[in-house]
Amino acid sequence: MEKIETLKDGTKFLIRNLTIADLDKLMKFYRALPMSDRKYLRIDVTKKKLVEHRVRTAEERRVFWITALHENNIIAEGRLELSSDDWRRDHGEVRLIVDRAFRHKGVGLMMLRSLYQIAVERKVKKVIAKMLRPQVGARKIARKLGFREEILLPDYVQDQRHKTQDLLIMTCDIDDFWKELETLYVASDWQRTR
Ligand SMILES: CC(C)(COP(=O)(O)OP(=O)(O)OC[C@H]1O[C@@H](n2cnc3c(N)ncnc32)[C@H](O)[C@@H]1OP(=O)(O)O)[C@@H](O)C(=O)NCCC(=O)NCCS
Repeated sequence: MEKIETLKDGTKFLIRNLTIADLDKLMKFYRALPMSDRKYLRIDVTKKKLVEHRVRTAEERRVFWITALHENNIIAEGRLELSSDDWRRDHGEVRLIVDRAFRHKGVGLMMLRSLYQIAVERKVKKVIAKMLRPQVGARKIARKLGFREEILLPDYVQDQRHKTQDLLIMTCDIDDFWKELETLYVASDWQRTR
């Protein structure tokens, strides 16, 4: 996958698959994230060896990893993680993070559209989003995209600061996901042209 996207202010950026050749750029992106973002991530993304291992093993773990680049810098990374067990063979989990300077400009939605295409190619039927309770932005965008809150697991995980957090699991049917994605895309496009 490789496509040029344009934001309403004319900013162009590239969405393409992430490869191991992007490791240094990815580390720069992760290390520039404020602790308020990083503390809710599953792993300590400042550890290069750990990140490198995850990128190198992505394919065997059935992880489809994409990135958005502006002026050769990573401004977002997103993943579709397919389940490896039979029970959930048609499930795909979405992970996404956008550089703070590029938020609320539509980058997240454009990344989700690309992840949707991968999901369809991989015959995903149910899209899953997992987040910690304080990730309110993620929760709002997921709600707007038609995700249902399936379960809230109280005190289920520890964030990067070792603070116990509630884990929220949201799901969405793939067809509904596309419908809401397009509706929201058009609506926010209108907002950005005002
Ligand atoms: C969640 C996240 C990916 C959204 O990315 P983004 O590029 O800002 O999203 P978009 O600009 O495409 O937003 C699309 C719409 O979603 C909604 N939305 C996005 N972030 C929101 C927020 N913080 N509060 C309320 N609504 C929000 C809005 O309707 C928005 O359109 P608008 O800005 O025109 O009103 C980004 O905030 C992020 O990286 N958060 C930290 C990491 C995270 O929580 N990831 C998700 C867990 S997997």
